Amino acid sequence: MSSRAVVKKPWAGRFKEKTEKTVETFTSSVSFDKRLWKYDIQGSMAHVKMLKKQKIVSAKDAESIMSGLKKIEQAIQKGKFKFRDELEDVHMNIEYSLIKEIGTTGGKLHTARSRNDQIALDIRLFLRDEITGILELIKNFQTVLVGLAEKYIDVVMPGYTHLQKAQPVLLSHWLLAYFEMFERDRSRFEDCMKRVNVLPLGSGALAGTTLPIDRGYTAQILGFPEISRNSMDAVSDRDFVVEFLSAASLVMVHLSRLSEELVLWNSGEFGFIELPDAFSTGSSIMPQKKNPDVMELVRGKAGRVFGHLIAVLVVLKGLPLAYNRDLQEDKEPLFDAVDTVRACLSVLTGTMPKLKFNKLIMRKAAEEGFSTATDLAEYLVRKGVPFREAHEITGKIVRYCLENKKTLLDLNLNELKRFSKIIKKDVFGCLTVDASVNKKDSFGGTAKKSVLGRIREIKSGK
Ligand code: ARG
Repeated sequence: MSSRAVVKKPWAGRFKEKTEKTVETFTSSVSFDKRLWKYDIQGSMAHVKMLKKQKIVSAKDAESIMSGLKKIEQAIQKGKFKFRDELEDVHMNIEYSLIKEIGTTGGKLHTARSRNDQIALDIRLFLRDEITGILELIKNFQTVLVGLAEKYIDVVMPGYTHLQKAQPVLLSHWLLAYFEMFERDRSRFEDCMKRVNVLPLGSGALAGTTLPIDRGYTAQILGFPEISRNSMDAVSDRDFVVEFLSAASLVMVHLSRLSEELVLWNSGEFGFIELPDAFSTGSSIMPQKKNPDVMELVRGKAGRVFGHLIAVLVVLKGLPLAYNRDLQEDKEPLFDAVDTVRACLSVLTGTMPKLKFNKLIMRKAAEEGFSTATDLAEYLVRKGVPFREAHEITGKIVRYCLENKKTLLDLNLNELKRFSKIIKKDVFGCLTVDASVNKKDSFGGTAKKSVLGRIREIKSGK
C-alpha cells in the first residue's frame, strides 16, 4: 500500500472519491509553507490555551494537545518529521500528526479555527520575526556606512549629475547619502510592522464563530497589540504582504543603486575603488579579470523582488471577499523577497569595509572638469554680482580655459580680471576642491563640518 493511501484528509468526510494525484500535487503548498511550521505550532499552542481558559476544551485535553504539539515541534527541529504532500499544507500536516500522536483528542485543536485565519496568523508571525531581522541587518549596514564616513572624512571625490562631473563632495557625504536612504527603509519597515502586528485568529473561515472564544487572550499570549475587527477582512487581507514587498522593493532599489556605483567605480575607467579578492570572482577565459559579480547580482536580484510585489498585487486585485485559494500564491514571492533582501544586505555589509578607496584618483578626478566653476560664480555673487551675470562670466572663463587648455587654478589674477574687475586675489581661496567642499556648509551640504555634525547626530542616536 502506498503511503498516500493511508493518509485520511481532515476534510475527507464530505468526499466519496479520493483526490486525483495531479490535483493533490497542484494544490499542495507544503513544499514551501512548511517553512512556517514554528509559527503554526506557536499559534496552535496559544489557541489551545485560550480554548482551555474558555472551557471550550477541558484542561486535560488541552494538556494532551500541548504535549503532542511539543513532541511535533521537537521532531521537526530534529529533522525527524515527515511532511506529506498529500496532506496539502503545513497546517494539515501538523494536525494529522497530532491526531496520530495523541488520538482523537487531537481533533479538538481545530475548534473555532479555520485554516483561513490560521494561515493569516502564521504569515503575520513569520513576518514579525523577519521584519525584526531585516531592521537589524539594515542597522548593521548603516553602522558600516557611518564607520566608513568617519574613516574617510578627508577624501574628496567628484559629485556627479547626469554622470558628468558636477561639484566636489566628500566621499563621506556620498556614504551618508546611502545612510539616509536606509534610514527611510527602516522607517518603512517599522511602519509596515504596525499593520503586520494584528491578530487575525478567531475570525474562523470568514464569519467568526458561535463558540465563546476570547481573542484578547490569544492576542495577549502571542504579543499582538491589536486584534482584527472584521472577520471577512481578516482572512482575505494581504495588504501587509504588499506593504512588506513594497518596502523590500525600495531597499532593493537602494542596494542596487549602490551596487551600480560600485561597479562603475571599480571599472578601469573610474578606478575609484578596488574590490577585495574574497568578494570578487574571476573569468573562466580572461585571466586578467576580477569581476564585481557580487554587486552585479545584487543589482540583478532587485528585479525579482519588484516582480514579487507585482505578483501579489495582481493576485489580490480581483478577489471577491473573503478567503480564496489564490491567496496561497502570496507565500513563495514573500519568502523569496525575504531571503533576497537578507542575502543582499548581508553580502554588501561584508563587502563595504573591505573596499579600497583610491583617494588620489578620486581627488584628481574631483579636480578635473571645472568642478569649482559654481564656486567661482558664487564668489562673484558674494561681491554683489547678480547670479545670472555671475554664471555668464564664469561660463566665459571656462570657455577661455578650454580654448587655452588651462584649468581654473592655472589662471592668474590678470587673466581673471579680464572677465570681471570685481575679481580680487581672494578668489584663489575658492577655487580648490577643498575650499569648494568646505564652504558648502548649508544645512545638509557637503562641508566637512556639516558631515561631521551629521555623523555625531547619528552616533548619538538622533
Ligand atoms: N494553504 C492555504 C494558503 O496558503 C491555507 C489555507 C487554505 N484554506 C482553504 N480553505 N483551503 O492560503
